[in-house]
Amino acid sequence: MERLQKVIAESGMTSRRKAEGLITSGKVKVDGKVITELGFKVSDNNEIVVDGVKINKEDKVYYLLNKPRGVITTTNDDKGRKTVIDLISDDKRIYPVGRLDYDTTGVLLLTNDGEFANNMMHPKNEIDKVYIAKINGFLTPKDIIALKNGVIIDNVKTSKARVKVRKVDKDTHTSIVELTIHEGRNHQVKNMFSSLGYEVLKLKRERIAFLDLKGLNSGEYRRLTPKEVSKLYVLLNEKKSSK
Ligand code: URA
Repeated sequence: MERLQKVIAESGMTSRRKAEGLITSGKVKVDGKVITELGFKVSDNNEIVVDGVKINKEDKVYYLLNKPRGVITTTNDDKGRKTVIDLISDDKRIYPVGRLDYDTTGVLLLTNDGEFANNMMHPKNEIDKVYIAKINGFLTPKDIIALKNGVIIDNVKTSKARVKVRKVDKDTHTSIVELTIHEGRNHQVKNMFSSLGYEVLKLKRERIAFLDLKGLNSGEYRRLTPKEVSKLYVLLNEKKSSK
């Protein structure tokens, strides 16, 4: 179920603000009844008519992109930089599920399904995100424990993480570390390492839940299969019902 103004805005008919105005001025009908309440929730089965025009609900689409470096994770950029949306040929109003930094590569989901996107991003749903970071130096056992238990970023402790050192390179004095988290705070991985004095030199998201980069070169994308989408919905529901 989604808020009426959101569904109207997502249909591409008008902005969310204008949709709110149309609702409060009595121009919107749901299943033949005028609705003026802004919080009114509708599902895919409701017929919504705005100013006499039935809205077209877009089919839901779900993409998995192997994000390259040097592309920004927004729907448009005021500095004219290339966005992840530019990489996908689809006229629907899709947007990224969460963010990867300009210089971060790897798994990024994109969709026009707002509810799904919010659920995937919400830390309470504990969807695993697996990052591979190349850092300077070698993690001490104490720092590994700190990362696992949570470090303080902006006065807030990060939740429990899984940490695995995949490789150390004595010549370049760098390490490759796998970090699994389910939060998605801004620059979280970089900040987790920098809180302990390490710099992230390269960062890639290797996996979200069971979705990895298999078969996708940098910049390539594919639609999720219906089976994958239902599997994600099952995961989200399991988390919800176990709370
Ligand atoms: N954490 C970061 O620091 N950057 C990203 O792009 C993703 C997670």
